[in-house]
Amino acid sequence: MAVTQSKETAFQFLSENSMSTIDQYAVFGHPISHSKSPRIHTLFAQQTHQELSYCAQDVPADSFSVAVTDFFRQGGKGLNCTVPLKELAWQHADILSERAQFSKAVNTLTLQKNGTVLGDNTDGIGLVTDLTINHMIPLLDSRVLILGAGGASRGIIGPLMEKSPTHIVIANRTVEKAITLSHEFSQLGKITGCSYDEIKNSEFDLILNATSASLSDDLPPLAKNLLATNGTCYDLAYGSQPTAFVKWGLAHGAKKSLDGLGMLIEQAAEAFFIWRGVRPETAAIVALLNAERAN
Ligand code: ATR
Repeated sequence: MAVTQSKETAFQFLSENSMSTIDQYAVFGHPISHSKSPRIHTLFAQQTHQELSYCAQDVPADSFSVAVTDFFRQGGKGLNCTVPLKELAWQHADILSERAQFSKAVNTLTLQKNGTVLGDNTDGIGLVTDLTINHMIPLLDSRVLILGAGGASRGIIGPLMEKSPTHIVIANRTVEKAITLSHEFSQLGKITGCSYDEIKNSEFDLILNATSASLSDDLPPLAKNLLATNGTCYDLAYGSQPTAFVKWGLAHGAKKSLDGLGMLIEQAAEAFFIWRGVRPETAAIVALLNAERAN
């Protein structure tokens, strides 16, 4: 796939694609070569008999605005945006869904009939679907700990709150960021921000790792008794091998210690539904991608 490095190459690439009569979708990110989104959306399209194309493009942050404008000007129908572009996508959208307004991050851009671009965030609903439907993990009245206070945390808090947990605690190395984030969502339910040290004697039913530590095979400083009996650990990151946090969960008695592959597929399914009005059946695709990485 072409690498979109400059205004000229972005325009050229998209002009070539605009010759096609098939509806065009893409994921922009930087880096992007590891992305599973083209495969997932192609599987969704095959399963639901939708004719479309979906590609991945490497778009650095400083090319984002031009690349998005060109993509839609040349007939693109919908875009996913991933790291490090979600905040830029939020700024770029003409209008925002309610969940995107709160999260201040957008992973799904959709060209609407009137020519405006709608920004939405399907990450949180993807996580909640994976937890509650795929893994039957109840959120109602549960004590939830979110590790990290960056963009990934911001995207999941609203949809988690909708499931009425007892409370959500955000722990972060930089405690001010956790406190600020908790204040932004305090109207939705009971939520507090704190340091890792402050929770060392607390216990949680669900611990979500939304830090970027997994990307460097690292772990936040977690006290050994943080996880309640029969508790769940969930890493928003995923890889071909269990992440450091998934291993931590297994070593600390988690009933389930999961990574974010299911969330990735579910957020994609929600984006696909927004674009095509058809909801793919995700179970078979989760099973397929899990089997592939086991080999
Ligand atoms: P993203 O958009 O993926 O959330 P981010 O906004 O850069 O990325 O946020 C990364 C989060 O991971 C932050 O909460 C960061 O903590 P700080 O705010 O204190 O920097 C957290 N993080 C990254 N590496 C970490 C590590 N090794 N241990 C603990 N927290 C880590």
